[in-house]
Amino acid sequence: MSLVPMSQILERANQEDYAVGGFNMNNLEFLQAIIEASEEEKSPVILQASEGALRYMDMHLALPMAISAAENADIPVAIHLDHGSDFSKIIECIRNGFTSVMIDGSKSPFEENIALTQKVVEAAHAVGVTVEAELGKIGGAEDDHVVKSASLADPDECVEFVERTDVDALAVAFGTAHGVYKGEPELDFELLAEVNNRIDLPIVMHGASGVPEESVVKAIELGVNKINVNTAFQQAWTAKVREVLEDPDIYDPRKICGPGRDAMKEAVKEKIRLFGSDNKA
Ligand code: 13P
Repeated sequence: MSLVPMSQILERANQEDYAVGGFNMNNLEFLQAIIEASEEEKSPVILQASEGALRYMDMHLALPMAISAAENADIPVAIHLDHGSDFSKIIECIRNGFTSVMIDGSKSPFEENIALTQKVVEAAHAVGVTVEAELGKIGGAEDDHVVKSASLADPDECVEFVERTDVDALAVAFGTAHGVYKGEPELDFELLAEVNNRIDLPIVMHGASGVPEESVVKAIELGVNKINVNTAFQQAWTAKVREVLEDPDIYDPRKICGPGRDAMKEAVKEKIRLFGSDNKA
C-alpha cells in the first residue's frame, strides 16, 4: 500500500476498466480531503500538483506532507506532477520524491514533443517513476498553463508517439478543457474510441470538472483510466468557505478552512464512486 508509482495504479484500472482520480492538491486541506476521502472509499488515488500549486505551497514544504500522508495511508497513493513544462523541473520533482510526472510537450511540434518525452521517459524509468504525456492540445487554463487554441489529438500520431516514447499513460485531447466550461463540452467519443482501439495504454482525461456524469461514464467505457479534477473541488471548497465567512464572529482559520475541507471531501467521494475506483484499493 502507500506510496507507489502511478503505473501500478493504472495497470489494474486498465485491466478492470475503471478510472482513478488525478486529484489536484492546492493546500493542506486539499491534501487531507483527497487522502481521507480515498481511504474511506477504499480507493487508490493519484495525488497531483501543478507547477503553480507547487510554487504557491512551496514544494519543499508541501511534498514532505504529501509523502508522509501517502506513506501512512492504507490505500495506494501516487504523487504526480501535473503538466510538467521542462526537463529540469521534472528532474527536480523526481529527486524530491514524486512517483510520477507528466511532461507536457503538447505546445511544441510533434517531433519536439517526442524528443522531450523520450528524454524524460529515459530518466524517469531509470528510477521507477511513471510518465504521462499529452497529444493534441487540451484547451482552457490551469494556473499559468494556458491553451488559447485547442486542437484534438490525431490517432495516427498517438500510435507513433506511444511506440517511439515508451510513455506509460497518454492524455488525449478529445474535447475537454481545463477550468469552467462556457456551454456543454463537445466531446469526440469516436476519436477516443479509435485511439483506445489502437494503443494499449491507460488514457488520461483532463478537464473533467463540468463534464456531465454520463459523458464521464462513457469515456471510462471507451478506455479512460485516469481522470483529472481540480476546478470542481476548488468550487466545492470555496462555496463552503464563503458560507462560513458570512458569520462575522468566525475568525479562527481552522473553523473556516476545516468546513471547506469537509465539503470538498464529499465531492471527492462522489467522483471516486462515479469513476468506479471505490473498493479497488
Ligand atoms: P479541471 O480543473 O477542469 O477539473 O481540470 C483539471 C486537470 O485536468 C488537471 O490537469
